[in-house]
Amino acid sequence: MRHIRMAAAQAKALMVGREQTHTRVWAYDGQIPGPTLRLRQGEPVRITVENRLDEDTTVHWHGIRLPNAMDGVPGLTQPPIRPGESFVYEFTPPDAGTFWYHPHANSLQQLGRGLAGGLIVEEAEPVPVDRDLLWVLTDWRLTADAQIASGFGNGMEAAMAGRIGNTVTLNGAVPDAEPVQAGERVRLRLVNSSLARIMGLRFESHRPVVVALDGQPCDPHEPEDGRIVLGPAMRVDIVLDMQGEPGRGYRVVDDFYDGLAYRLTSLTYGDQPIRKPNSDTPIRLPRNPLPEPDLAQAERQELVLQGGMMGGMGGMMGMPGMGRAVWAINGTSMTGDGHAGMPPLRVLQQGRSYVVTMRNETAWWHPMHLHGLSFRVLSRNGKAVPHHQWADTVMMAPREAVEIAFVADNPGDWMLHCHVTDHQTAGLMTVLRIA
Ligand code: C2O
Ligand code: CU
Ligand code: CU
Repeated sequence: MRHIRMAAAQAKALMVGREQTHTRVWAYDGQIPGPTLRLRQGEPVRITVENRLDEDTTVHWHGIRLPNAMDGVPGLTQPPIRPGESFVYEFTPPDAGTFWYHPHANSLQQLGRGLAGGLIVEEAEPVPVDRDLLWVLTDWRLTADAQIASGFGNGMEAAMAGRIGNTVTLNGAVPDAEPVQAGERVRLRLVNSSLARIMGLRFESHRPVVVALDGQPCDPHEPEDGRIVLGPAMRVDIVLDMQGEPGRGYRVVDDFYDGLAYRLTSLTYGDQPIRKPNSDTPIRLPRNPLPEPDLAQAERQELVLQGGMMGGMGGMMGMPGMGRAVWAINGTSMTGDGHAGMPPLRVLQQGRSYVVTMRNETAWWHPMHLHGLSFRVLSRNGKAVPHHQWADTVMMAPREAVEIAFVADNPGDWMLHCHVTDHQTAGLMTVLRIA
């Protein structure tokens, strides 16, 4: 079995180039983002995580369908890793694709101070591209001297869009340019590991083709309006054929928030094309072994997202002793990061198919994430979703209703929460039990 070791500890990172200012961060193996783990589909791995922080932590392997005891939710699936202690995670990734890992303890600070890394599960057969790139995109709220601003868990932000930062990094540094060659075909794996920032990426003069969402292959398609929407925790794999002119630069723009568009980076072409573009052969990734839900026999469930600013939840309280709640799912609020004895909102029968309608009754965007399973995204506001999309984190626009479906094949207590971390910790979280 492959054995990997990682340690979470305080570190210094050079994120903003100016005057060699080091930012104090919390990091895996001293790196921002943490080391990219490259695993192989169907091959067991053992990952020992050492906690050299001053507080409890855990690691959650976001999107990997693994045994419940390896899911990294403190109190719910494992005891927290105390300072100075280690925990051994062991699992066999069933699906190839783009995933990531992050703590599930004191998430606002631990994720917001830098603990996150990319996790790639390689296909059995290599996919025919010239290069396979990973962009881990994160935003930070930095002070004028390039340090992480305090004020995590601000109540006003928790009831609105969450802690959105002022600096976006690509693989841990403020990006300038990405060198490319005319004619090459690149598989670009996009990961948004921000606490709260939603991104909408456009590749000037290029036509990205989406080939996988949250690690799960879909029918290759160009994104709606040419823009790739990436909420916190979401991943999109695209194939980019470099059909620009040698020697030129093309902007990559994030224009998700109205009036706040900015240039993320540029694709800068070298002078020599490597060959003529071969964009006529589409790339289709091999499907993962996901159980197909039986829609005719499926049991139906409804989850209603409530609260937030303008959400009329007023003085609604969370469970006693679990902190302040401004959001709720079906009238109940679990807050924080995970707790011992969280009662499940629903008990699902192992092996059964479910169709769950999630109804966003709030005025805010929510990337809703379910642990332990991937689900089909069936419809939005009653309209069928094309391209056979599977996901583990589905973006919900204000007032939107999204229907998802899955086979409840993985037993255990699984978190379901918004991945805008302020929303999660302020009540937009629950537990589904599969038994
Ligand atoms: Cu990345 Cu509980 O999630
Ligand atoms: Cu997860
Ligand atoms: Cu949310």
